[in-house]
Amino acid sequence: MALKITVIGTGYLGATHAAAMAELGFEVLGLDVVPEKIEMLGRGQVPMFEPGLEELLRKHVAGIEGSTGRLRFTMDWAEVAEFGDVHFVCVNTPQKHGEYACDMSYVDSAVESLAKHLRGPNLVVGKSTVPVGSADRLAARILELAPGGGEVELAWNPEFLREGFAVDDTLHPDRIVVGVRSERAEELLREVYASPIADGSPFVVTDFPTAELVKTSANSFLATKISFINAMAEVCEAAGGDVAKLAEAIGHDDRIGKKFLRAGIGFGGGCLPKDIRAFMARAGELGADQALTFLREIDSINMRQRGQMVELARQALGGGPFLGKRVAVLGATFKPDSDDVRDSPALNVAGQIHLQGGQVTVYDPKGMGNARRLFPTLGYADSATEAVRGADVVLHLTEWREFRELDAKALGEVAAARVILDGRNALDPELWRKAGWSYRAMGRPTA
Ligand code: UDX
Repeated sequence: MALKITVIGTGYLGATHAAAMAELGFEVLGLDVVPEKIEMLGRGQVPMFEPGLEELLRKHVAGIEGSTGRLRFTMDWAEVAEFGDVHFVCVNTPQKHGEYACDMSYVDSAVESLAKHLRGPNLVVGKSTVPVGSADRLAARILELAPGGGEVELAWNPEFLREGFAVDDTLHPDRIVVGVRSERAEELLREVYASPIADGSPFVVTDFPTAELVKTSANSFLATKISFINAMAEVCEAAGGDVAKLAEAIGHDDRIGKKFLRAGIGFGGGCLPKDIRAFMARAGELGADQALTFLREIDSINMRQRGQMVELARQALGGGPFLGKRVAVLGATFKPDSDDVRDSPALNVAGQIHLQGGQVTVYDPKGMGNARRLFPTLGYADSATEAVRGADVVLHLTEWREFRELDAKALGEVAAARVILDGRNALDPELWRKAGWSYRAMGRPTA
């Protein structure tokens, strides 16, 4: 009989995983403790913007006309325990307030609430990003709490999806990593992922700590790559070089690779910043803090880019205070194709200028609602043109396609001054200069 799957936590990760499991043909039951989320998902609506996710959900959510009916949602732990053979834990692990460490309270409480009802045989699969050592601790907790005792097992299966590509990354993962303690757990996970495995996704079997570490080390590597190129941007600024050319040139070496070498205002979002900090905190607890001191530098290079963008804007306005200056900000989300503004470099730069007295007007294709909630005192406009109207300087801070396709000439007619600063190295300097703009990008003083 086909496996039945449950997904606990229906945020980015969980909602996508649940829909993807239904797409792979499984009967799926999703659980969340927030009633509004369950109601929305039950109607086939997604609480965030993620390309393709709502379509996939509507294709499977029970009760929607024409759907397969394979996907349902509930708030009832007993129902989830009764329903599933394999239970995926997908709740979030934010940074603890005032600390670097990761807040495990949602994972702990999800595992405990579920375990109490598990009579076995079941597999609980952790997907959340957790400090190494958590799986070991949670496996013991499950054994203590589950009425099914040793019939209930744990596995760790980190998730590598990127916002903006979540659906595709989940259906066609570039690797599947499973930390297991038994052949049975491995076999069950091979069954769950039979379709992507058949399509060629590598399946890597490890122990618990390695599986947990794969995720945090992958994110640390990505963060390092971005901060590396941003450090090169700083040197290019000082030496009169061009970091975009430099990235292109080193990227031809396929040991280095072209990806994740776009210099600019740096990384943000709900993952990279908090994951590298939690990793440092955990290494400290394990007595291996020296190994990760470089991540402190990665973090500070990254945070410095935001300040440098503010300084670039100040220089563009003549070098004095921002008071009375009108600044247009294009982009609020931490990356394009997402409405996520968590730790967004763009919003951080906009906020800094605003707090220094600048009149900031922000426009973002999808992030306006979230940005307004997080930073209600900034000015907001309904289009790029309206944001730029009367601006003394324009800051391009999130690389949406919409901004690359802007009509630079028409925009020049509404701006007070034709000065654009590209915080993402994503616009075409030639195109803007032809339209009469002065163009300046980070790490490319001469480009
Ligand atoms: C990241 C990881 O990529 C993903 O594998 C993991 O599961 C979760 O964390 P995500 O947070 O969606 O995914 O964003 P990502 O695409 O990695 O971008 C992170 C940040 O880096 C963004 O703010 C982006 O603008 C910035 N970035 C990315 C750069 O500044 N330069 C680059 O070259 C690439």
